[in-house]
Amino acid sequence: MITIIGSGRVGTAAAVIMGLMKVDTKIMLIDIVKGLPQGEALDMNHMSSILGLDVEYFGSNDYKDMAGSDLVVVTAGLPRKPGMTREQLLEANAKIVNEIGKEIKRYAPNSIVILTTNPLDAMTYVMWKSTGFPRERVIGFSGVLDAGRLAYYAAKKLGVSPASILPIVLGQHGESMFPVPTKSFLHGVPLSKLLTEEQLKEVVEETVKAGARITELRGFSSNWGPGAGLALMADVIKRDAKRSLIASVVLRGEYGVSDVPVEVPIVLGRGGVSRILEVELTAEEKQKFLQSVEAIKKLIASIPPAYLQ
Ligand code: 2OP
Repeated sequence: MITIIGSGRVGTAAAVIMGLMKVDTKIMLIDIVKGLPQGEALDMNHMSSILGLDVEYFGSNDYKDMAGSDLVVVTAGLPRKPGMTREQLLEANAKIVNEIGKEIKRYAPNSIVILTTNPLDAMTYVMWKSTGFPRERVIGFSGVLDAGRLAYYAAKKLGVSPASILPIVLGQHGESMFPVPTKSFLHGVPLSKLLTEEQLKEVVEETVKAGARITELRGFSSNWGPGAGLALMADVIKRDAKRSLIASVVLRGEYGVSDVPVEVPIVLGRGGVSRILEVELTAEEKQKFLQSVEAIKKLIASIPPAYLQ
């Protein structure tokens, strides 16, 4: 069973896409708002019936109903409003993530946790501390989203399918996010060789600002991109596909960084993260990467200690 905590726009998009991809036969929706997860589950069960998916949805307001889940996806927390940065959500969401982390530890102690709550990397740190799980089982979502956006914007300029691009985004899922065109390839040729300086600048900027752009246009933050990315990760874990993708994981010496969750390429399977890949960076790129790590560290340093246990 997969449990999705938070029945807002991201949680429900993930649930629907997971159902369409038949990632599991049982999907549990949990939210604190009475009736919300139950109503969403009922509607999704009708979808499942119409499409013959053989996926059953459940809704609950009780964390204990996550028991038996091998994967828990946490989408709870406050989202960004227009004009807000992800970083401004820190304190309110740290409290929520800490509470949920403790419930996961209690009811699904062997699960893999994927988290989408912003500011992403700092919240991954809170989840890692609150569950006490090994770093391989606490994964911050969003690298898939940032990389997918980089591929999209680059592909549009190149007139190719985004699927032909292997994109790399490192660092923070936030203002200091670091898309790396020299290490993102269209079949062996780096984007930095295919696009002009001007185009590269645009692609990087569009990628970094993509989430804010969506929020500005429609008044609320993204859910379809995140929902798709979460369903992809759930599918990879369930099928033990060992696919490489980008996610935020706690580093332990990789890239010369320790005890900080950072977006890096990983290999994902049934046990969670089985490998962390170290991309070779130039001195200038390394400096950008470390600046991004510093931004994450600064946020972590301002989390109230009570939310780290
Ligand atoms: C995004 O990048 C909201 O962080 C989310 O769209």
